[in-house]
Amino acid sequence: MKFNQKKILVALTSLYVGFASAQNTTKLKVGLMLPYSGTYASLGNAIENGFQLYVKEQGGKIGGREIELVKVDDESEPSKATDNINKLIKRDNVDLVVGSVHSGVAMAMAKVAKDTGTLLIVPNAGADAITGPMCAKNIYRTSFTNWQPGFAMGEQAAKNGIKKVITVTWKYAAGEESVKGFKEGFEKNGGTISKELTVPFPNVEFQSLLTEIAAAKPDAVYAFFAGAGAVKFVKDYAAAGLNRSIPLYGPGFLTDGTLEAQGAAANGMLTTLHYADGLNNKRDAAFRLAYVKAYKMQPDVYAVQGYDAAQLLAIGLNATKGDVSKKAEFEDAILKAKIDSPRGTITISKSHNPIQDIYLREVVGKENKFKSVASKSLADPARGCNL
Ligand code: PHB
Repeated sequence: MKFNQKKILVALTSLYVGFASAQNTTKLKVGLMLPYSGTYASLGNAIENGFQLYVKEQGGKIGGREIELVKVDDESEPSKATDNINKLIKRDNVDLVVGSVHSGVAMAMAKVAKDTGTLLIVPNAGADAITGPMCAKNIYRTSFTNWQPGFAMGEQAAKNGIKKVITVTWKYAAGEESVKGFKEGFEKNGGTISKELTVPFPNVEFQSLLTEIAAAKPDAVYAFFAGAGAVKFVKDYAAAGLNRSIPLYGPGFLTDGTLEAQGAAANGMLTTLHYADGLNNKRDAAFRLAYVKAYKMQPDVYAVQGYDAAQLLAIGLNATKGDVSKKAEFEDAILKAKIDSPRGTITISKSHNPIQDIYLREVVGKENKFKSVASKSLADPARGCNL
């Protein structure tokens, strides 16, 4: 009798252990909240393409779970962002959210993610606060902070002998923080900002700004625009003849995924970014081949960030056997990982932002050609994050 009781106990215990460590095999619902319309539409599409490509390469499963996507077009509209992410979490019951492109949208998403404990992976928006004062255990980013490419370009511009710069951007967090990063790197190395110009997002009426720049004759201009707005700005700048006398610098968003449309207007431009053409690493070569085969177009930085969002998710979920609620194990795996990104190997900082090389690139034809490493393993200062 006693012997049998013991046997039953052993059997029950192993059954329990079996359950407790079992792989979750139900579908994983991923909310994709991205701009599919407006000036950033092409960025949203590239992020989704990159994400889907990685999932396909894993046979449709991440962390042992089949992926189901629930998509929302956030229109790069901050005022709708809280409602949009709440619908994904409360109505659609997603297990996690991936998004978005626009910093204002992403900050509203980060607030909801923090309040509800939902896992959020940011595949673009650079708002410094997301991995600064708003940082949280359940929020990760696979892209950059607005500070990172800006700061690297500030140092680079000073190195190039530029002394006086006018900055120009859309007036919202991303542009303002990009300019702030540039200013920090530039002023530290002896440069001066003579004027900071802005236009409301997503306005593309640039004529009066260009007239002001032409009259002021700075040594260079530093501009933050992206997507369709970047195409228009670079073309207008060249049409006004300014590119012949005043070099146009910027973070790489100014020329990434836009060169087909910008044509000769972008030729020779120098930008800084965590991705480039001609990086010559194996992972990038394989990624580009697969991307072109799947989508019949070249990938850009946004596609890389989407691809890496899926990679980061896989690293976390492989460690937790597909369980998104095991936040400590998920984080532990990610902080230890060396992520094999098409941009080169990256690690994730304690504040959950990539530590990465920032490249200096030059536009040659339809390419943002790698020139040099402008800033090696650049980590955002993560001011205000206490993780
Ligand atoms: C942003 O809003 O953070 C943002 C948008 C587009 C970019 C880069 C940053 O290309």
